[in-house]
Amino acid sequence: MNEQRDARLLIAEDEANLRLVLQKELQRLGYRVQAAADGEAALRKLEESNVDVLLCDINMPRMDGMELLRRVHERPNPPEVIMLTGQGTIETAVEAMKIGAYDYLTKPYSINELDVRVRQAAEKRNLRVDNQRLRAQLERQSALPEIVSQSQAMNEAIRLVERVAPSEASVLITGESGTGKELIAQAIHRLSSRANGSFIDLNCAAFQESLLESELFGYEAGAFSGAKARKLGLIELADGGTLFLDEVTELPASLQAKLLRAIETRTFFRVGGVRKVEVNVRIVAATNRNIDSVVGDGTFRADLLYRINSFQIHLAPLRERPEDVEPLMHYILKQLGGANPPEVTADALGRMRAYAWPGNVRQLRNCLERAILLSNEGRITSSELPPEVARSTNGAAPFTAGMSSAPVSSGDGSVPMSAGDGGSVPGSGSLRDVEKQQIIAALEQTGWHRGKAAEMLGISPSTLYRRLRDYNLEGRLR
Ligand SMILES: Nc1ncnc2c1ncn2[C@@H]1O[C@H](COP(=O)(O)OP(=O)(O)OP(=O)(O)O)[C@@H](O)[C@H]1O
Ligand SMILES: [Mg+2]
Repeated sequence: MNEQRDARLLIAEDEANLRLVLQKELQRLGYRVQAAADGEAALRKLEESNVDVLLCDINMPRMDGMELLRRVHERPNPPEVIMLTGQGTIETAVEAMKIGAYDYLTKPYSINELDVRVRQAAEKRNLRVDNQRLRAQLERQSALPEIVSQSQAMNEAIRLVERVAPSEASVLITGESGTGKELIAQAIHRLSSRANGSFIDLNCAAFQESLLESELFGYEAGAFSGAKARKLGLIELADGGTLFLDEVTELPASLQAKLLRAIETRTFFRVGGVRKVEVNVRIVAATNRNIDSVVGDGTFRADLLYRINSFQIHLAPLRERPEDVEPLMHYILKQLGGANPPEVTADALGRMRAYAWPGNVRQLRNCLERAILLSNEGRITSSELPPEVARSTNGAAPFTAGMSSAPVSSGDGSVPMSAGDGGSVPGSGSLRDVEKQQIIAALEQTGWHRGKAAEMLGISPSTLYRRLRDYNLEGRLR
Protein backbone atom coordinates (compact mmCIF):
# COMPACT_ATOMS: atom_id res chain seq x y z
CA MET A 1 0.00 0.00 0.00
CA ASN A 2 3.02 2.23 -0.46
CA GLU A 3 1.17 4.33 -2.99
CA GLN A 4 -0.63 6.27 -0.23
CA ARG A 5 2.72 7.40 1.20
CA ASP A 6 2.71 10.55 -0.90
CA ALA A 7 -0.57 11.64 0.68
CA ARG A 8 -0.87 15.26 1.84
CA LEU A 9 -1.16 15.54 5.61
CA LEU A 10 -1.88 18.38 7.97
CA ILE A 11 -1.01 18.13 11.67
CA ALA A 12 -2.97 20.36 14.05
CA GLU A 13 -1.15 20.11 17.41
CA ASP A 14 -0.40 22.86 19.92
CA GLU A 15 2.54 21.14 21.64
CA ALA A 16 5.52 22.38 19.63
CA ASN A 17 7.88 19.47 20.29
CA LEU A 18 5.35 16.81 19.50
CA ARG A 19 4.29 18.68 16.36
CA LEU A 20 7.88 18.85 15.13
CA VAL A 21 8.59 15.18 15.84
CA LEU A 22 5.41 14.04 14.09
CA GLN A 23 6.15 16.22 11.08
CA LYS A 24 9.75 14.97 10.75
CA GLU A 25 8.86 11.31 11.18
CA LEU A 26 5.96 11.38 8.74
CA GLN A 27 8.05 13.28 6.19
CA ARG A 28 10.73 10.63 6.55
CA LEU A 29 8.11 8.05 5.55
CA GLY A 30 7.42 10.03 2.35
CA TYR A 31 4.28 11.97 3.25
CA ARG A 32 3.90 15.63 2.33
CA VAL A 33 3.32 17.23 5.71
CA GLN A 34 2.19 20.67 6.87
CA ALA A 35 1.68 21.64 10.49
CA ALA A 36 -0.45 24.16 12.39
CA ALA A 37 -0.34 25.20 16.04
CA ASP A 38 -4.09 25.56 16.58
CA GLY A 39 -7.46 24.97 14.99
CA GLU A 40 -7.74 28.36 13.35
CA ALA A 41 -4.34 28.12 11.72
CA ALA A 42 -5.26 24.63 10.51
CA LEU A 43 -8.47 25.91 8.91
CA ARG A 44 -6.52 28.60 7.08
CA LYS A 45 -4.10 26.00 5.72
CA LEU A 46 -7.04 23.86 4.59
CA GLU A 47 -8.41 26.78 2.63
CA GLU A 48 -5.15 27.36 0.84
CA SER A 49 -4.22 23.81 -0.04
CA ASN A 50 -5.62 20.38 -0.69
CA VAL A 51 -5.19 17.99 2.26
CA ASP A 52 -5.95 14.25 2.28
CA VAL A 53 -5.65 13.48 5.99
CA LEU A 54 -5.90 15.84 8.96
CA LEU A 55 -4.26 14.71 12.24
CA CYS A 56 -6.05 16.62 14.91
CA ASP A 57 -5.23 17.11 18.59
CA ILE A 58 -8.31 17.61 20.77
CA ASN A 59 -7.18 20.23 23.27
CA MET A 60 -5.83 23.25 21.47
CA PRO A 61 -6.10 27.00 22.11
CA ARG A 62 -8.26 29.33 19.93
CA MET A 63 -10.20 26.53 18.27
CA ASP A 64 -10.20 23.03 19.73
CA GLY A 65 -10.14 19.78 17.78
CA MET A 66 -13.87 19.12 18.00
CA GLU A 67 -14.76 22.53 16.62
CA LEU A 68 -12.14 22.12 13.89
CA LEU A 69 -13.65 18.75 12.96
CA ARG A 70 -17.11 20.30 12.72
CA ARG A 71 -15.86 23.16 10.57
CA VAL A 72 -13.93 20.80 8.32
CA HIS A 73 -17.06 18.79 7.68
CA GLU A 74 -18.96 21.88 6.58
CA ARG A 75 -16.57 22.19 3.65
CA PRO A 76 -16.98 20.49 0.31
CA ASN A 77 -14.75 17.48 -0.13
CA PRO A 78 -13.23 17.42 3.40
CA PRO A 79 -10.07 15.46 4.30
CA GLU A 80 -10.29 12.34 6.46
CA VAL A 81 -9.68 13.26 10.09
CA ILE A 82 -7.76 11.22 12.69
CA MET A 83 -8.12 12.51 16.25
CA LEU A 84 -5.01 12.37 18.48
CA THR A 85 -6.13 12.15 22.07
CA GLY A 86 -4.67 12.20 25.58
CA GLN A 87 -5.90 9.64 28.12
CA GLY A 88 -8.52 12.00 29.48
CA THR A 89 -10.24 12.66 26.21
CA ILE A 90 -11.23 9.21 24.92
CA GLU A 91 -14.91 9.93 25.36
CA THR A 92 -14.52 13.03 23.26
CA ALA A 93 -12.71 10.98 20.64
CA VAL A 94 -15.63 8.57 20.47
CA GLU A 95 -17.92 11.56 20.09
CA ALA A 96 -15.67 12.74 17.25
CA MET A 97 -16.13 9.44 15.42
CA LYS A 98 -19.87 9.97 15.60
CA ILE A 99 -19.62 13.30 13.83
CA GLY A 100 -17.46 11.97 11.06
CA ALA A 101 -13.83 11.50 12.19
CA TYR A 102 -12.21 8.52 10.45
CA ASP A 103 -10.41 7.15 13.54
CA TYR A 104 -8.64 8.12 16.76
CA LEU A 105 -5.33 7.28 18.37
CA THR A 106 -4.63 7.50 22.09
CA LYS A 107 -1.28 8.92 23.25
CA PRO A 108 1.26 7.42 23.48
CA TYR A 109 1.17 5.79 20.06
CA SER A 110 3.99 4.52 17.88
CA ILE A 111 4.88 6.04 14.55
CA ASN A 112 4.16 2.63 12.96
CA GLU A 113 0.65 2.65 14.33
CA LEU A 114 0.13 6.17 13.07
CA ASP A 115 1.56 5.26 9.63
CA VAL A 116 -0.94 2.41 9.20
CA ARG A 117 -3.95 4.56 10.12
CA VAL A 118 -2.82 7.44 7.95
CA ARG A 119 -2.40 5.17 4.93
CA GLN A 120 -5.86 3.68 5.43
CA ALA A 121 -7.42 7.09 5.80
CA ALA A 122 -5.64 8.41 2.68
CA GLU A 123 -6.80 5.38 0.73
CA LYS A 124 -10.36 5.98 1.81
CA ARG A 125 -10.20 9.61 0.73
CA ASN A 126 -8.72 8.71 -2.64
CA LEU A 127 -11.55 6.28 -3.26
CA ARG A 128 -14.09 8.87 -2.23
CA VAL A 129 -12.62 11.53 -4.54
CA ASP A 130 -12.32 9.07 -7.47
CA ASN A 131 -15.89 8.07 -6.91
CA GLN A 132 -17.10 11.66 -6.97
CA ARG A 133 -15.11 12.37 -10.09
CA LEU A 134 -16.53 9.34 -11.89
CA ARG A 135 -20.04 10.18 -10.87
CA ALA A 136 -19.65 13.78 -12.03
CA GLN A 137 -18.15 12.57 -15.29
CA LEU A 138 -21.07 10.23 -15.90
CA GLU A 139 -23.55 12.99 -15.17
CA ARG A 140 -21.76 15.29 -17.56
CA GLN A 141 -21.63 12.72 -20.33
CA SER A 142 -25.31 12.02 -20.13
CA ALA A 143 -26.00 15.74 -19.97
CA LEU A 144 -23.87 16.67 -22.99
CA PRO A 145 -25.99 19.34 -24.61
CA GLU A 146 -27.55 18.46 -27.90
CA ILE A 147 -27.11 21.21 -30.43
CA VAL A 148 -29.59 21.09 -33.27
CA SER A 149 -28.22 22.27 -36.58
CA GLN A 150 -29.33 21.95 -40.14
CA SER A 151 -28.20 25.23 -41.59
CA GLN A 152 -24.77 25.82 -42.99
CA ALA A 153 -24.20 28.72 -40.57
CA MET A 154 -24.88 26.55 -37.52
CA ASN A 155 -22.86 23.61 -38.86
CA GLU A 156 -19.94 25.93 -39.38
CA ALA A 157 -20.29 27.22 -35.81
CA ILE A 158 -20.21 23.65 -34.50
CA ARG A 159 -17.16 22.87 -36.58
CA LEU A 160 -15.40 25.84 -34.96
CA VAL A 161 -16.47 24.63 -31.50
CA GLU A 162 -14.93 21.22 -32.14
CA ARG A 163 -11.77 22.82 -33.44
CA VAL A 164 -11.21 25.29 -30.60
CA ALA A 165 -12.52 23.28 -27.64
CA PRO A 166 -9.41 21.11 -27.03
CA SER A 167 -7.09 24.15 -27.06
CA GLU A 168 -6.59 26.57 -24.21
CA ALA A 169 -7.63 29.57 -26.31
CA SER A 170 -10.17 31.94 -24.85
CA VAL A 171 -13.31 32.20 -26.93
CA LEU A 172 -15.76 35.01 -27.50
CA ILE A 173 -19.24 33.95 -28.58
CA THR A 174 -21.35 36.63 -30.23
CA GLY A 175 -24.96 36.55 -31.32
CA GLU A 176 -28.36 37.94 -30.46
CA SER A 177 -30.24 37.00 -27.32
CA GLY A 178 -31.50 33.41 -27.36
CA THR A 179 -29.31 32.17 -30.22
CA GLY A 180 -27.63 29.52 -28.04
CA LYS A 181 -24.48 31.24 -26.77
CA GLU A 182 -24.61 29.57 -23.38
CA LEU A 183 -25.23 26.19 -24.98
CA ILE A 184 -22.14 26.66 -27.16
CA ALA A 185 -20.06 27.76 -24.14
CA GLN A 186 -21.01 24.56 -22.30
CA ALA A 187 -20.16 22.47 -25.33
CA ILE A 188 -16.69 24.07 -25.52
CA HIS A 189 -16.10 23.19 -21.87
CA ARG A 190 -17.29 19.62 -22.19
CA LEU A 191 -15.25 18.94 -25.28
CA SER A 192 -12.12 20.38 -23.63
CA SER A 193 -9.46 18.76 -21.48
CA ARG A 194 -11.01 20.71 -18.58
CA ALA A 195 -14.26 18.77 -18.80
CA ASN A 196 -13.61 17.25 -15.37
CA GLY A 197 -13.19 20.69 -13.84
CA SER A 198 -16.09 22.99 -13.18
CA PHE A 199 -17.99 25.18 -15.62
CA ILE A 200 -18.76 28.36 -13.69
CA ASP A 201 -21.00 30.95 -15.20
CA LEU A 202 -21.31 34.60 -14.26
CA ASN A 203 -23.76 37.02 -15.82
CA CYS A 204 -21.89 40.31 -15.83
CA ALA A 205 -25.12 42.28 -16.24
CA ALA A 206 -26.88 40.73 -13.28
CA PHE A 207 -25.18 42.54 -10.41
CA GLN A 208 -24.18 46.05 -9.50
CA GLU A 209 -20.47 46.81 -9.53
CA SER A 210 -19.45 46.07 -5.93
CA LEU A 211 -21.44 42.85 -5.77
CA LEU A 212 -20.06 41.76 -9.10
CA GLU A 213 -16.53 42.28 -7.87
CA SER A 214 -17.03 40.10 -4.82
CA GLU A 215 -18.86 37.47 -6.87
CA LEU A 216 -15.96 37.32 -9.29
CA PHE A 217 -12.94 37.66 -6.99
CA GLY A 218 -14.36 36.72 -3.58
CA TYR A 219 -13.47 38.56 -0.39
CA GLU A 220 -11.58 38.24 2.87
CA ALA A 221 -13.28 38.31 6.26
CA GLY A 222 -13.67 41.96 7.30
CA ALA A 223 -13.22 43.35 3.77
CA PHE A 224 -16.44 45.33 4.30
CA SER A 225 -19.21 45.41 6.88
CA GLY A 226 -21.11 42.17 6.57
CA ALA A 227 -18.10 40.19 5.32
CA LYS A 228 -17.97 37.82 8.29
CA ALA A 229 -15.96 35.02 6.74
CA ARG A 230 -13.83 34.58 3.66
CA LYS A 231 -15.82 33.87 0.51
CA LEU A 232 -14.28 32.33 -2.56
CA GLY A 233 -14.97 34.10 -5.84
CA LEU A 234 -16.21 32.41 -8.99
CA ILE A 235 -12.81 32.79 -10.66
CA GLU A 236 -11.33 30.67 -7.87
CA LEU A 237 -14.12 28.11 -8.03
CA ALA A 238 -13.42 27.77 -11.75
CA ASP A 239 -9.78 26.82 -11.05
CA GLY A 240 -8.89 23.96 -13.38
CA GLY A 241 -12.11 24.53 -15.33
CA THR A 242 -13.86 27.14 -17.43
CA LEU A 243 -15.19 30.55 -16.40
CA PHE A 244 -18.07 31.65 -18.62
CA LEU A 245 -18.51 35.43 -18.58
CA ASP A 246 -21.95 36.05 -19.99
CA GLU A 247 -22.80 39.55 -21.24
CA VAL A 248 -19.14 40.39 -20.74
CA THR A 249 -19.46 43.83 -22.36
CA GLU A 250 -21.57 44.93 -19.36
CA LEU A 251 -18.57 44.68 -17.00
CA PRO A 252 -17.92 48.08 -15.39
CA ALA A 253 -14.62 49.74 -16.35
CA SER A 254 -12.83 49.11 -13.03
CA LEU A 255 -13.60 45.40 -13.20
CA GLN A 256 -12.50 45.20 -16.80
CA ALA A 257 -9.07 46.40 -15.65
CA LYS A 258 -8.98 43.87 -12.80
CA LEU A 259 -10.09 41.03 -15.02
CA LEU A 260 -7.46 41.88 -17.61
CA ARG A 261 -4.77 41.81 -14.92
CA ALA A 262 -6.06 38.48 -13.61
CA ILE A 263 -6.00 36.94 -17.09
CA GLU A 264 -2.53 38.27 -17.86
CA THR A 265 -0.87 37.34 -14.58
CA ARG A 266 -3.02 34.29 -13.78
CA THR A 267 -3.28 35.71 -10.26
CA PHE A 268 -5.71 38.00 -8.51
CA PHE A 269 -6.51 39.53 -5.13
CA ARG A 270 -9.67 38.76 -3.20
CA VAL A 271 -11.53 41.94 -2.17
CA GLY A 272 -9.75 43.21 0.96
CA GLY A 273 -6.96 40.68 0.43
CA VAL A 274 -3.23 41.33 0.43
CA ARG A 275 -2.09 37.93 -0.77
CA LYS A 276 -2.11 37.04 -4.46
CA VAL A 277 -4.06 33.92 -5.31
CA GLU A 278 -3.08 31.82 -8.31
CA VAL A 279 -5.68 30.47 -10.71
CA ASN A 280 -5.74 28.43 -13.84
CA VAL A 281 -8.95 29.14 -15.72
CA ARG A 282 -10.03 29.21 -19.31
CA ILE A 283 -12.20 32.16 -20.22
CA VAL A 284 -15.18 31.78 -22.50
CA ALA A 285 -17.19 34.98 -22.88
CA ALA A 286 -20.39 35.92 -24.63
CA THR A 287 -22.14 39.07 -25.69
CA ASN A 288 -25.17 40.06 -27.72
CA ARG A 289 -23.75 43.52 -28.32
CA ASN A 290 -21.85 44.64 -31.37
CA ILE A 291 -18.22 44.40 -30.32
CA ASP A 292 -16.98 47.12 -32.64
CA SER A 293 -19.43 49.66 -31.30
CA VAL A 294 -18.78 48.98 -27.59
CA VAL A 295 -15.04 49.23 -28.16
CA GLY A 296 -15.56 52.24 -30.41
CA ASP A 297 -17.56 54.19 -27.84
CA GLY A 298 -15.11 53.32 -25.08
CA THR A 299 -17.43 51.21 -22.90
CA PHE A 300 -15.26 48.13 -23.41
CA ARG A 301 -11.46 48.05 -23.29
CA ALA A 302 -9.80 47.03 -26.53
CA ASP A 303 -6.91 45.31 -24.70
CA LEU A 304 -9.35 43.14 -22.75
CA LEU A 305 -11.21 42.35 -25.96
CA TYR A 306 -8.00 41.12 -27.60
CA ARG A 307 -7.33 38.88 -24.59
CA ILE A 308 -10.71 37.18 -24.59
CA ASN A 309 -11.17 37.22 -28.33
CA SER A 310 -8.38 34.95 -29.49
CA PHE A 311 -11.12 32.97 -31.18
CA GLN A 312 -14.56 34.17 -32.08
CA ILE A 313 -17.71 32.22 -32.83
CA HIS A 314 -20.73 34.06 -34.14
CA LEU A 315 -24.20 32.56 -33.92
CA ALA A 316 -26.51 33.78 -36.64
CA PRO A 317 -30.02 34.85 -35.63
CA LEU A 318 -32.70 32.27 -36.31
CA ARG A 319 -34.36 34.37 -39.04
CA GLU A 320 -31.17 34.03 -41.11
CA ARG A 321 -31.26 30.24 -40.88
CA PRO A 322 -34.92 29.25 -41.30
CA GLU A 323 -33.81 25.66 -42.14
CA ASP A 324 -33.14 25.25 -38.40
CA VAL A 325 -36.70 26.09 -37.36
CA GLU A 326 -38.21 22.70 -38.18
CA PRO A 327 -35.51 20.48 -36.57
CA LEU A 328 -35.42 22.80 -33.55
CA MET A 329 -39.18 22.58 -33.29
CA HIS A 330 -39.11 18.76 -33.31
CA TYR A 331 -36.30 18.72 -30.76
CA ILE A 332 -38.08 21.14 -28.41
CA LEU A 333 -41.46 19.40 -28.77
CA LYS A 334 -39.83 16.10 -27.88
CA GLN A 335 -38.25 17.70 -24.82
CA LEU A 336 -41.53 19.27 -23.74
CA GLY A 337 -44.04 16.69 -24.88
CA GLY A 338 -42.20 13.46 -24.00
CA ALA A 339 -42.97 10.25 -25.86
CA ASN A 340 -46.00 11.61 -27.72
CA PRO A 341 -45.13 15.09 -28.91
CA PRO A 342 -47.98 16.94 -30.64
CA GLU A 343 -47.99 17.17 -34.41
CA VAL A 344 -47.76 20.52 -36.12
CA THR A 345 -49.75 21.45 -39.22
CA ALA A 346 -47.89 22.49 -42.37
CA ASP A 347 -49.51 25.91 -42.16
CA ALA A 348 -48.32 26.50 -38.59
CA LEU A 349 -44.80 25.36 -39.50
CA GLY A 350 -44.79 27.70 -42.49
CA ARG A 351 -45.67 30.62 -40.25
CA MET A 352 -42.96 29.73 -37.77
CA ARG A 353 -40.40 29.51 -40.56
CA ALA A 354 -41.47 32.91 -41.86
CA TYR A 355 -41.45 34.71 -38.52
CA ALA A 356 -38.48 36.94 -37.59
CA TRP A 357 -37.94 35.57 -34.02
CA PRO A 358 -36.32 38.56 -32.28
CA GLY A 359 -35.87 36.32 -29.21
CA ASN A 360 -34.47 33.51 -31.38
CA VAL A 361 -34.47 29.90 -30.13
CA ARG A 362 -35.55 30.86 -26.64
CA GLN A 363 -38.61 32.60 -28.04
CA LEU A 364 -39.38 29.60 -30.27
CA ARG A 365 -39.27 27.44 -27.17
CA ASN A 366 -41.66 29.73 -25.28
CA CYS A 367 -43.98 29.83 -28.26
CA LEU A 368 -44.11 26.01 -28.41
CA GLU A 369 -44.64 25.72 -24.67
CA ARG A 370 -47.67 27.96 -24.97
CA ALA A 371 -48.93 26.15 -28.08
CA ILE A 372 -48.79 22.76 -26.30
CA LEU A 373 -50.93 24.12 -23.47
CA LEU A 374 -53.50 25.50 -25.91
CA SER A 375 -53.51 22.58 -28.35
CA ASN A 376 -56.41 20.20 -28.86
CA GLU A 377 -55.99 16.50 -29.52
CA GLY A 378 -52.23 16.78 -29.83
CA ARG A 379 -52.32 19.12 -32.85
CA ILE A 380 -50.71 22.52 -33.08
CA THR A 381 -52.31 24.76 -35.71
CA SER A 382 -51.66 28.43 -36.35
CA SER A 383 -54.48 29.32 -33.92
CA GLU A 384 -52.28 28.10 -31.08
CA LEU A 385 -49.41 30.36 -32.11
CA PRO A 386 -49.04 33.85 -30.63
CA PRO A 387 -50.72 36.45 -32.92
CA GLU A 388 -47.46 37.96 -34.14
CA VAL A 389 -46.23 34.52 -35.28
CA ALA A 390 -49.59 33.48 -36.73
CA ARG A 391 -49.66 36.67 -38.79
CA SER A 392 -46.36 36.06 -40.53
CA THR A 393 -46.30 34.52 -43.97
CA ASN A 394 -43.47 33.79 -46.32
CA GLY A 395 -44.19 36.70 -48.62
CA ALA A 396 -44.30 39.19 -45.79
CA ALA A 397 -41.18 38.03 -44.02
CA PRO A 398 -38.84 40.96 -44.36
CA PHE A 399 -35.67 39.44 -42.97
CA THR A 400 -35.12 35.95 -44.23
CA ALA A 401 -33.68 36.68 -47.63
CA GLY A 402 -30.17 37.59 -48.54
CA MET A 403 -28.71 38.17 -45.06
CA SER A 404 -26.53 35.11 -44.78
CA SER A 405 -23.88 35.38 -42.12
CA ALA A 406 -21.18 32.79 -41.81
CA PRO A 407 -19.57 32.57 -38.37
CA VAL A 408 -16.49 34.67 -38.01
CA SER A 409 -13.62 32.43 -37.09
CA SER A 410 -11.10 34.61 -35.37
CA GLY A 411 -8.91 37.53 -34.97
CA ASP A 412 -9.96 40.80 -36.44
CA GLY A 413 -12.86 41.50 -34.15
CA SER A 414 -15.34 41.96 -36.96
CA VAL A 415 -18.72 40.56 -36.25
CA PRO A 416 -21.62 40.66 -38.62
CA MET A 417 -23.86 43.36 -37.31
CA SER A 418 -26.70 41.89 -35.36
CA ALA A 419 -29.99 43.61 -35.75
CA GLY A 420 -30.66 44.08 -32.07
CA ASP A 421 -27.72 46.32 -31.50
CA GLY A 422 -29.42 49.34 -32.87
CA GLY A 423 -26.70 50.05 -35.38
CA SER A 424 -27.00 51.65 -38.78
CA VAL A 425 -26.85 48.62 -41.04
CA PRO A 426 -28.85 49.22 -44.20
CA GLY A 427 -32.20 47.50 -43.94
CA SER A 428 -32.12 47.14 -40.17
CA GLY A 429 -34.59 49.98 -39.74
CA SER A 430 -37.58 47.79 -40.52
CA LEU A 431 -36.42 45.10 -38.13
CA ARG A 432 -35.95 47.65 -35.40
CA ASP A 433 -39.49 48.85 -35.95
CA VAL A 434 -40.91 45.34 -35.74
CA GLU A 435 -38.90 44.63 -32.64
CA LYS A 436 -39.90 47.88 -30.98
CA GLN A 437 -43.58 47.19 -31.70
CA GLN A 438 -43.26 43.71 -30.22
CA ILE A 439 -41.57 45.01 -27.13
CA ILE A 440 -44.22 47.66 -26.62
CA ALA A 441 -46.99 45.09 -27.16
CA ALA A 442 -45.44 42.75 -24.59
CA LEU A 443 -45.01 45.59 -22.10
CA GLU A 444 -48.57 46.72 -22.54
CA GLN A 445 -49.91 43.22 -22.03
CA THR A 446 -47.93 42.88 -18.80
CA GLY A 447 -48.68 46.36 -17.45
CA TRP A 448 -45.09 47.49 -18.21
CA HIS A 449 -43.58 44.79 -16.02
CA ARG A 450 -39.99 44.23 -17.14
CA GLY A 451 -39.58 40.66 -15.87
CA LYS A 452 -42.88 39.37 -17.25
CA ALA A 453 -42.45 41.14 -20.58
CA ALA A 454 -38.94 39.71 -20.98
CA GLU A 455 -40.27 36.23 -20.30
CA MET A 456 -43.00 36.70 -22.86
CA LEU A 457 -40.51 37.87 -25.48
CA GLY A 458 -38.11 35.08 -24.65
CA ILE A 459 -35.23 37.41 -23.81
CA SER A 460 -33.44 38.07 -20.54
CA PRO A 461 -34.57 41.05 -18.41
CA SER A 462 -31.17 42.67 -18.87
CA THR A 463 -31.43 42.39 -22.66
CA LEU A 464 -34.90 43.89 -22.54
CA TYR A 465 -33.58 46.72 -20.43
CA ARG A 466 -30.87 47.48 -22.96
CA ARG A 467 -33.37 47.50 -25.79
CA LEU A 468 -35.55 49.89 -23.81
CA ARG A 469 -32.56 52.15 -23.35
CA ASP A 470 -31.87 52.00 -27.09
CA TYR A 471 -35.47 52.88 -27.87
CA ASN A 472 -35.73 55.53 -25.11
CA LEU A 473 -38.55 53.64 -23.44
CA GLU A 474 -36.92 52.95 -20.09
CA GLY A 475 -38.65 55.81 -18.28
CA ARG A 476 -42.00 54.12 -18.65
CA LEU A 477 -41.08 50.95 -16.74
CA ARG A 478 -42.79 50.02 -13.53
N1 LIG B 1 -29.03 24.91 -31.72
C1 LIG B 1 -29.75 24.65 -30.63
N2 LIG B 1 -30.15 23.40 -30.35
C2 LIG B 1 -30.90 23.13 -29.28
N3 LIG B 1 -31.30 24.05 -28.38
C3 LIG B 1 -30.93 25.32 -28.59
C4 LIG B 1 -30.13 25.69 -29.71
N4 LIG B 1 -29.90 27.02 -29.65
C5 LIG B 1 -30.51 27.46 -28.54
N5 LIG B 1 -31.14 26.45 -27.88
C6 LIG B 1 -31.94 26.58 -26.65
O1 LIG B 1 -32.51 27.88 -26.62
C7 LIG B 1 -32.48 28.45 -25.32
C8 LIG B 1 -31.67 29.72 -25.33
O2 LIG B 1 -30.28 29.45 -25.54
P1 LIG B 1 -29.12 30.15 -24.70
O3 LIG B 1 -29.55 30.38 -23.29
O4 LIG B 1 -27.87 29.38 -24.93
O5 LIG B 1 -29.08 31.56 -25.50
P2 LIG B 1 -28.14 32.82 -25.27
O6 LIG B 1 -27.58 33.16 -26.61
O7 LIG B 1 -27.19 32.56 -24.18
O8 LIG B 1 -29.20 33.96 -24.88
P3 LIG B 1 -29.00 35.33 -23.98
O9 LIG B 1 -28.14 36.25 -24.80
O10 LIG B 1 -30.39 35.87 -23.83
O11 LIG B 1 -28.38 34.92 -22.70
C9 LIG B 1 -31.91 27.39 -24.42
O12 LIG B 1 -32.98 26.66 -23.86
C10 LIG B 1 -31.11 26.51 -25.36
O13 LIG B 1 -30.98 25.22 -24.88
MG1 LIG C 1 -27.13 33.44 -22.24
